[in-house]
Amino acid sequence: MSWVYEQFICAFLVGCTFLSVLSHPDKAPKYTFLREAASAPQILTYDYIVIGGGTCGCPLAATLSQGATVLVLERGGSPYTNPEQININNFVNSLADISPSSFSQPFISRDGVLNSRARALGGGSVLNAGFYSRASSKYIVDSGWNETLAKDSYQWVEKKVAFEPPMLQWQSAVKDGLLEVGVLPYNGFTFDHLYGTKVGGTIFDKEGNRHTAADLLEYADPKRISVYLHATVQKILFKYNTEKRRQQAYGVIFKDALGVMHRAYLSTKGKSEIILSAGAIGSPQLLMLSGIGPANHLQAHGIKVVLDQPLVGQGMADNPLNVLLVPSPVPVEVSLVQTVGITKFGSFIEAASGLSLGHSWSERLQGIFEFVSNQSGQPSMFPPVADTIRSLANPILKGGVLLEKIIGPRSTGHLELINTNPNDNPSVTFNYFKDPEDLRKCVEGMRTIIDVINSKAFSKFRYHNMPVQSLIDLMLHLPVNLRPKHANAAFSLEQYCIDTVLTIWHYHGGCQSGKVVDHNYKVIGVEALRVIDGSTFHRSPGTNPQATVMMLGRYMGEKIIKKRFFHGRK
Ligand SMILES: Cc1cc2nc3c(=O)[nH]c(=O)nc-3n(C[C@H](O)[C@H](O)[C@H](O)COP(=O)(O)OP(=O)(O)OC[C@H]3O[C@@H](n4cnc5c(N)ncnc54)[C@H](O)[C@@H]3O)c2cc1C
Ligand SMILES: *[C@@H]1O[C@H](CO)[C@@H](O)[C@H](O)[C@H]1NC(C)=O
Ligand SMILES: *[C@@H]1O[C@H](CO)[C@@H](O)[C@H](O)[C@H]1NC(C)=O
Repeated sequence: MSWVYEQFICAFLVGCTFLSVLSHPDKAPKYTFLREAASAPQILTYDYIVIGGGTCGCPLAATLSQGATVLVLERGGSPYTNPEQININNFVNSLADISPSSFSQPFISRDGVLNSRARALGGGSVLNAGFYSRASSKYIVDSGWNETLAKDSYQWVEKKVAFEPPMLQWQSAVKDGLLEVGVLPYNGFTFDHLYGTKVGGTIFDKEGNRHTAADLLEYADPKRISVYLHATVQKILFKYNTEKRRQQAYGVIFKDALGVMHRAYLSTKGKSEIILSAGAIGSPQLLMLSGIGPANHLQAHGIKVVLDQPLVGQGMADNPLNVLLVPSPVPVEVSLVQTVGITKFGSFIEAASGLSLGHSWSERLQGIFEFVSNQSGQPSMFPPVADTIRSLANPILKGGVLLEKIIGPRSTGHLELINTNPNDNPSVTFNYFKDPEDLRKCVEGMRTIIDVINSKAFSKFRYHNMPVQSLIDLMLHLPVNLRPKHANAAFSLEQYCIDTVLTIWHYHGGCQSGKVVDHNYKVIGVEALRVIDGSTFHRSPGTNPQATVMMLGRYMGEKIIKKRFFHGRK
């Protein structure tokens, strides 16, 4: 990006924030400790530096501030500036916004699937579909977490941001359809992960207002925390620790919206640390930009190697999402995910309805594909826009989608740098359905969706002259991704899964625990650096991950701060 352009963007961003504070005093940023990075000193010193004020970073930083000074550096803006923009009606619009100040940064994986990274205080919870559901007890045990502390941490999160959804007609019909086709028992409204059909939590309140991970900063001690917005960390700094005989993180360099560089250092007292919570794309990318990663790959980009760690960027995975779009003869409520079928064969069935699409969905999709493809190193095929889909140009979708996500997944890929600019997307490959087990789960999930659509409970939302086959054909004509389409996809659910795969944005991995970080989330082989966020996962937790990502922030914050005091007393 040119300097002049950056100046313009900054003037624009700062100006907008300033004006909106003046004109809507009630919508002013609610925290005294929340500031623009452009107003930060040249040099700062804190006990903990949290990189990324996202879904995990916010609860983590709030907790650490109970016993130490904490600096949060977030590259995006504030979700409090314009609450309308992130309410339930603007889910698709927010996601489709491709302006540089958008909370969504689009990317296309090497698999040809359009995806999105969060860029806001609150991270993915500012952009997501809001469904809130805990991980299974087995997942918690397998992760080596203390079950009591995990439960306490979930509850700490839920007190602020989790609600019971309204469950109107569309969501109720999906729930009843799931029960009718045998996804049993019915478990009612619960945050717990149980086989059968249930109503889960949501971060949208009854008015449709979104409550993001940034709200967890209400728990922070305002005297000990500073949160800077539009603060993009460029790299983590290391020096050699002669006693420990290895590299030790001691600070970071970050850039503000004016393009000015600042440095933040760790205080030397106690157990100061840098904690990377930049998400499943940002964390492996920033480790590599800071010199931790596969040595030959880093050298090829002119990066000085701090630690040769071939596992950084490995184990990247994204749970494949497959859907059927169901136009409805009767109006439907606006709903994101509220009910879920948790099947024994490893597929989760969910639904959404009445999405507000602004203007023509297909043209918009085409525009985003073109925008992302124009950026360096991205795949550059364009899907043809079929004339038939122009009929979907209605601004509010009358109808909805039934979707299925598979557990895991078992198929994994990798992440590589394209360049050394931290603002740019790295190259990411997920290898959807490479493992045949994943494909089998998808096919069974699609069969369940078809049964639900054909169920009695769902019949009022069906056009009776539109059999399931025509819904399949419709999807095959939509420009949903950049993958090749095969004629037999209309008849083979295997091929349908492969050709129409989408993302549910639950991508994870890249800094996996036991590989890049140890079981305390410390980066193996260096001092004073941890990674705590979705990049450490081997599988996506629960039906949807955000509950567990927020829980992990609180959980690790508690562990770290307790240990700090324990050591202090000795
Ligand atoms: C559209 C969408 C819908 C979803 N729907 C659901 C759902 O309904 N339910 C659910 O449970 N989950 C959902 N998810 C998934 C869930 O939101 C994510 O798994 C979760 O938010 C990931 O949290 P994280 O802390 O790992 O990363 P993030 O929340 O992405 O946090 C990373 C933060 O780091 C910042 N950052 C990155 N690089 C830098 C840098 N160099 N310097 C400074 N800051 C940096 C980013 O701006 C970001 O704020 C959805 C996600 C999306 C995108
Ligand atoms: C688990 O966490 C609880 C609550 O913080 C704590 O009381 C207990 O000692 C922990 N158990 C273990 C084995 O660490
Ligand atoms: C993408 O690049 C093409 C060719 O350079 C250009 O005509 C088009 O306007 C660009 N599209 C977008 C959305 O940036």
